[in-house]
Amino acid sequence: MRPITRSVFGASAAAVLLFAVAGCVDEKKVFVERPFFEQPAAAAAGFIGYTDTTTANKQTACGNCHVAHQAGWKQTAHSHAWADLKANAHAAATCEACHTTGQLGNAATTANVGYGGTQDLRYMDVQCEACHGAGLDHAQKPDGSTAPLASIAADTGKLGTAGCSGCHSGTHDGFAEEWRASLHGTVQSHAIGSTATCINCHTGQGALAAWGVTANYKGKTDAPAQHVAITCAVCHDAHSDKFAAQTRYAVTTSDTLTNLCMKCHMRRSVPDMTSSSGPHAPEGPTLLGQAGWIPPNATFKYGDLKGTHATGDMCVTCHMSKTNFAQDTKGYLNVGHTFQATPCVDSKGQFVGGACTDDLRSFKSCTVSGCHGSEAAARSAYATAELRLNTLVAEANRLIALVPKTEFKTNDNLITAGEGATFNVGIATKPGAAAHNPFLTEALLTTSIQALKTQYKLTSTPGVVLTNVLQGHGK
Ligand code: HEC
Ligand code: HEC
Ligand code: HEC
Ligand code: HEC
Ligand code: HEC
Ligand code: HEC
Ligand code: HEC
Ligand code: HEC
Repeated sequence: MRPITRSVFGASAAAVLLFAVAGCVDEKKVFVERPFFEQPAAAAAGFIGYTDTTTANKQTACGNCHVAHQAGWKQTAHSHAWADLKANAHAAATCEACHTTGQLGNAATTANVGYGGTQDLRYMDVQCEACHGAGLDHAQKPDGSTAPLASIAADTGKLGTAGCSGCHSGTHDGFAEEWRASLHGTVQSHAIGSTATCINCHTGQGALAAWGVTANYKGKTDAPAQHVAITCAVCHDAHSDKFAAQTRYAVTTSDTLTNLCMKCHMRRSVPDMTSSSGPHAPEGPTLLGQAGWIPPNATFKYGDLKGTHATGDMCVTCHMSKTNFAQDTKGYLNVGHTFQATPCVDSKGQFVGGACTDDLRSFKSCTVSGCHGSEAAARSAYATAELRLNTLVAEANRLIALVPKTEFKTNDNLITAGEGATFNVGIATKPGAAAHNPFLTEALLTTSIQALKTQYKLTSTPGVVLTNVLQGHGK
């Protein structure tokens, strides 16, 4: 519900102002009882800040007109950043820039503006202008042409680069550094792809458009080649605390259409009748037991075999563990914005990232979530599941190689045992399959192998166990 919309406000600036006034107060009154804003000091450089600083009201000048944004923002932690700082024993002048509204996080290119220039408490907290930039011009001539648009970039934290990392970086809060080390932090060359739909999940602007976010922001209409990656503002909603940590969607739901992570991590989890493509980001449905090709001989159906961890915070339980890493000089903290469940660490337990063998990975996320008694136990359970799945994958691949080539036809609206088994091998060989759902994955492979044997009169290797043994294993 937006109080101010383009359809209501048409041509003239005067009409806009009049309605804006009426819209802010009781419908019958024409005049607002308090000014929209007070003329700021020159040193504020156009930042207008609060019109009411009382804790109960926290009324921003912007929010006098943008009523819904004000109401949503007031519920967020940004609206009490100053009080939280002041309540902290270590509070000092050097802390203030990130806990107030000024040059950090927006397009301001000079230091000491807003709070920094004035030390005026009307600029305490992380208000609208921290992200949107100075709003005096717009408040004086309130229309779309003057509107200070926010950016969805995360950026480097340097002055003028407009992004969340202006404050959310460094040793106190290394979210930006962590995020940048993850694949969410860079647009990959394949992101733009050959079809327009690729950007729905692979770029920031693409995802927001796919999710129906119509709000205006800087760079919204950029061509796909200029798009930003999956930035902070893609997953986080600046104006709402409906879900914990201001995420745009819940992380706890098992509905793949509304789970934040699964909105993207669910591209192709079952075979496509009209193409030979393998699984593509099947993690959501895999966790929920809804992935793969279920052979006709199987006795289970979609949803029967859920992963043990298809509950609570779902993906976040393992991939955003709050105590993954020891703090280091690069600013990596004890939080999970690298999104890695078992990141590579050095001998001191500090995050190094990249690829490594399982013995060099931290399995702390598995112990923090309360499921496994120790890192060693979790690592061993993972190794057991991986070994079992690898054995079955090798056997399935051996049989698939013996299937007549005529069995692999795209566009025939038919999934043969050869095609289905190939798809299931794809599910089983996706990184993390052994953690996401070893039970489903094992069952998909054992039933596929049975189907290949029956369908094509093949014999399997003696000693390869074709019953399901992982269930209940490895706590
Ligand atoms: C006096 C009322 C008023 C004040 C104060 C005000 N705005 Fe606006 N704002 C408007 C109107 C009117 C529009 C135009 C609506 C439209 O064109 O959709 C608008 C539009 C916007 C837009 C959207 C532009 C677009 O293209 O859709 C943003 C962003 C915005 N304002 C941010 C702010 C911020 C940040 C502040 C505080 C610095 C602020 N506004 C203060 C009235 C106001
Ligand atoms: C001017 C500095 C500044 C900017 C810019 C800024 N933040 Fe923050 N943010 C803070 C501070 C300070 C806190 C801690 C507030 C508190 O808890 O007292 C915070 C808290 C948060 C939280 C914590 C929510 C919670 O419930 O624990 C989220 C999420 C967040 N910010 C996201 C963002 C995003 C996304 C952006 C960019 C669109 C952004 N922030 C821009 C300073 C900033
Ligand atoms: C570089 C920007 C920056 C500086 C400088 C900074 N902070 Fe923060 N602070 C943040 C951000 C961003 C958060 C939100 C982190 C989160 O939610 O995990 C935060 C959160 C906090 C919180 C937690 C609020 C809560 O209760 O959840 C406290 C307390 C705090 N800071 C105190 C300080 C103190 C004391 C200093 C100076 C010694 C300081 N900050 C300097 C950016 C900063
Ligand atoms: C933490 C950064 C941040 C803060 C604080 C913030 N905004 Fe925004 N705002 C954004 C971003 C990013 C967008 C664009 C994407 C979106 O709406 O989620 C946006 C979009 C908007 C729009 C455009 C809506 C449209 O439909 O075109 C308006 C208006 C707006 N904000 C007003 C406000 C007001 C008023 C406040 C303070 C009460 C505020 N914002 C606080 C980051 C912020
Ligand atoms: C892919 C989605 C995603 C992206 C991208 C993302 N976050 Fe988050 N963030 C989350 C989720 C989910 C949580 C909640 C984690 C939890 O519940 O433990 C969270 C939590 C947070 C918190 C609160 C942490 C706490 O300890 O309470 C802050 C602050 C935050 N994010 C800031 C950022 C910033 C800044 C960026 C960009 C540099 C960013 N996030 C990028 C999904 C994301
Ligand atoms: C907007 C879409 C989108 C959302 C939402 C999203 N992801 Fe991703 N995720 C991606 C894309 C795109 C990639 C990288 C694909 C590539 O190009 O290789 C990725 C990569 C990853 C990776 C591999 C990271 C690495 O650096 O190796 C993990 C793990 C991951 N996502 C987990 C999550 C989790 C957990 C959430 C929810 C908190 C989430 N994702 C939300 C789109 C998304
Ligand atoms: C519904 C969301 C979604 C759409 C649409 C999407 N992807 Fe992805 N894609 C992802 C996610 C999430 C990942 C990362 C997780 C993974 O690799 O399993 C990913 C990973 C990838 C990877 C790297 C991993 C791999 O398997 O090699 C490539 C390449 C890729 N996508 C290409 C594309 C192309 C090209 C398109 C358009 C034709 C596209 N994607 C459309 C969500 C999507
Ligand atoms: C039980 C813990 C656990 C849960 C729950 C979980 N994962 Fe994973 N995931 C892992 C492990 C372990 C790996 C493989 C090693 C690693 O990446 O740390 C992995 C790997 C991945 C990868 C591939 C990363 C790469 O390096 O290519 C993606 C993408 C991914 N998970 C996404 C998700 C998503 C999305 C969800 C929720 C639907 C999810 N995971 C739930 C533990 C988990």
